[in-house]
Amino acid sequence: MLAIIYIRTGDASQLYIGSTDRPTPRDNELLVRVKACALNRMDILQRHGRYPLPPGASAILGVEMAGIVEACGASGNGRPGDRVFGLMLGGAYAQYCAIEEAAAIGMPESMSFEEAASLPEVWYTAYQALHFIGGLQAGQDVLIHGGASGVGMAAIQLAKMAQARRIVVTCGSEEKVAFCKSLGATHAVNYKADSFRSKARTHLGVNLIVDMVGANYWTDNIASLSFDGRLVILAFMSGTKVADFDIAPILGKRLRIEGTTLRSRSLAYQCQLRDQFAAQVLPRIRDGTIKHIVDRVFSWRDVADAHRYMESNQSRGKIVLTVD
Ligand SMILES: NC(=O)c1ccc[n+]([C@@H]2O[C@H](COP(=O)([O-])OP(=O)(O)OC[C@H]3O[C@@H](n4cnc5c(N)ncnc54)[C@H](OP(=O)(O)O)[C@@H]3O)[C@@H](O)[C@H]2O)c1
Repeated sequence: MLAIIYIRTGDASQLYIGSTDRPTPRDNELLVRVKACALNRMDILQRHGRYPLPPGASAILGVEMAGIVEACGASGNGRPGDRVFGLMLGGAYAQYCAIEEAAAIGMPESMSFEEAASLPEVWYTAYQALHFIGGLQAGQDVLIHGGASGVGMAAIQLAKMAQARRIVVTCGSEEKVAFCKSLGATHAVNYKADSFRSKARTHLGVNLIVDMVGANYWTDNIASLSFDGRLVILAFMSGTKVADFDIAPILGKRLRIEGTTLRSRSLAYQCQLRDQFAAQVLPRIRDGTIKHIVDRVFSWRDVADAHRYMESNQSRGKIVLTVD
C-alpha cells in the first residue's frame, strides 16, 4: 500500500508518499481503507523525532481517520463496507490502517469523510481536559489557551455546553478573537497585544485552565487561578523551563496541577471518552448546535504544505488530508 513516510526526521520536506506493508488486523481490529485523515500538532513533533511513541504504535504518522471497512480480524465483528471513523495509536496517514473495533464509530449518513476523520482527537482531548481531569461545573469560570486551535475550538463549545459562566480564551490574532467569540467565548484576548491575566483574574480568578502553551504562561496561569483552581496541562508549545517561580500560591490557593495525554491512555479509557462524545457531542454536531470547524482540506499528495500550514499558526480548527 502507499503511505506518507519519511526516512529522516526533520522539516516537512522529509514527507513523501512511498510503499510500505499493508497492516494485518489483529483479532479485535478492523482493516480500513482510509478516505481521509486529520493533522494534529503531535504529528509535527513526531516528524521531528520529538514525540515518544506509545508501545505498539505504528511508525506511520496519524492518529485519526475515516474510511471504509475492508476486512475484520478473527473475532469477525464489524462488516466490510461500513463507513467508520475513530482514534488510533498511529498509522492513519496511509491507504489502509488497522483500528481497534471498539475505537471505531459508525459514520452518520450525512457526514463527509473529511469531517468525520477530524473529530476524535480534539473532542476527546477537550472533553477529557474539561470534565475527566478538570471537573468543570456549571457556573464556573474557565480559561482556555490556544482558543482557535482544534482543541480550543472544541473546548470553548464544551465549556458553553457545560454552562460555564465566563469562558476566557487566548489566541494570536484579531481574526482568531472573532472566531473564538463566534463559538461562545465570553472574553477573547489576543496575547500578542494584551495579557490574559487581568481578564482571567476578574471575579477572583478562574476555576479551571486548559493550557498547551507551558512555560510562557506558567506564572500568569498560577496568578489567574481562584481558590481550589485546577490547571490541566496538555502540552508546552512555548517551552518547559520556568525560572524563579514561587510555589507558595499552590499551597495558599489549594491548586491542583495535572498533566494528561490522550495517546498513551488505555483503550478502555479512550472508549469512555468515545461514549461521552457519541452521546453528548455527536448528536449536537449533527443538528448544528455545535460546530466542528474544518479549516482546510489538502490532498495527501500535498502533505508537506498541510504541515507547513499548521506550523504557520494560521489555522482555525482542523486541517484534513484526503487519501486516494
Ligand atoms: N495532551 C494531549 O492529550 C493532547 C491532545 C491533543 C492536542 N494536544 C496539544 O494541544 C495543542 C493544540 O493542538 P491542536 O492540534 O488543536 O493545535 P492546532 O490546531 O495546530 O493549534 C495550535 C495553535 O496554538 C497556537 N500557538 C502555537 N505556538 C504557540 C505559542 N508558543 N504560544 C501561544 N500559542 C501558540 C497557535 O495559534 P495562535 O495564533 O493563537 O498563536 C496555533 O495555531 C498542541 O500543543 C497539542 O500538542 C495535547
